[in-house]
Amino acid sequence: MKRSLSGIKSTGIPHLGNYLGMIRPAIDLQDDYEAFYFVAEFHALTTERDPAAMRESTRMITAAFLAFGLDPERAAFFRQSSIPEVTELAWLLSCVTNMGVLERAHAYKAAKDAGVANHLNHGVFSYPVLMAADILIYDSDVVPVGQDQIQHLEMTRLMARHFNNTFGGDYLKLPEPMVREDVATVPGLDGRKMSKSYGNLIEPLTAPKKLRKQVMKIVTAPTPIEEPLDWESCNVFALYKLFSTSEEQAEMRANYARPDFGFGHAKQALFEKMNAHFEPFREKYDALLADTDTLEDVLERGAQRVRPVVGEVMERVRSATGLGRG
Ligand code: TYM
Repeated sequence: MKRSLSGIKSTGIPHLGNYLGMIRPAIDLQDDYEAFYFVAEFHALTTERDPAAMRESTRMITAAFLAFGLDPERAAFFRQSSIPEVTELAWLLSCVTNMGVLERAHAYKAAKDAGVANHLNHGVFSYPVLMAADILIYDSDVVPVGQDQIQHLEMTRLMARHFNNTFGGDYLKLPEPMVREDVATVPGLDGRKMSKSYGNLIEPLTAPKKLRKQVMKIVTAPTPIEEPLDWESCNVFALYKLFSTSEEQAEMRANYARPDFGFGHAKQALFEKMNAHFEPFREKYDALLADTDTLEDVLERGAQRVRPVVGEVMERVRSATGLGRG
């Protein structure tokens, strides 16, 4: 059975981009793949400074995956930090990775350009190396991600190839990214990619009142009262599309042409659709979040499941590089 692997940072409750771009596709893959998914605390640490928030986020994300249908009997869900060997593999990869490759990373360049001195730590610079280690340490075949992770996947393949060439063998398996076209980049409230750093999030597991508030904040184009609304360029419609059938979309397009239809109506329709979709998940999520023992048990069992694979891969790379007695 082929293996699917992915990670998500522990930086708060998952947002709609996380859900559509990664969580849903990743969970769907558990039927046909051996699924290994983890909470990327080490990556979150490049910005997170509050240990209580880190733990809370990890549990929120675990509860969310379970509520959305991850089956812990089939899929392994675990903390990145339960497998400290990833940091060892990251070092081995660092030693065969040119600085120039990392200097071209979008996330590093953006952090540098933003001049956020605090955030421009070495962890931000070497982020792609640790991510490559995360993927390669499990002999992963596919990695379900949103479009924004594609460059990291390319770098991962490059590092694996370089490691194999340097040490002369097929030690590391080259993974394939898996991106769902229609949700590769889910737009946020302002039409840009939904992202924590833009503060344009919709959080579908939050209380309905807050969710409605978020939806009502979606930015729309100022349109003179006598002109029909343009659905094609509308951020509300872009999101509505992701939760409706083609008939419902046709109906909504027709509504946009009606003189008595405003953006408020479109937002209310989107809120109702999303709320109906997420309500059953939210109930499970709230119950799970209160059940720390179950969450910790799932995380521990997940870590135990993946450990044997890690042992094998680490033995291969240690022996390839001449570490230990051989
Ligand atoms: P993170 O936590 O930023 O995001 C988790 C996943 O959500 C996807 N995503 C989106 N997809 C579509 N539209 C959006 N607006 C949107 N926003 C986020 C991301 O593409 C991602 O798949 N570097 C990773 C964490 C990581 C990882 C790994 C992933 C660490 N190690 C190994 C895969 C394999 C990250 O920052 O994800």
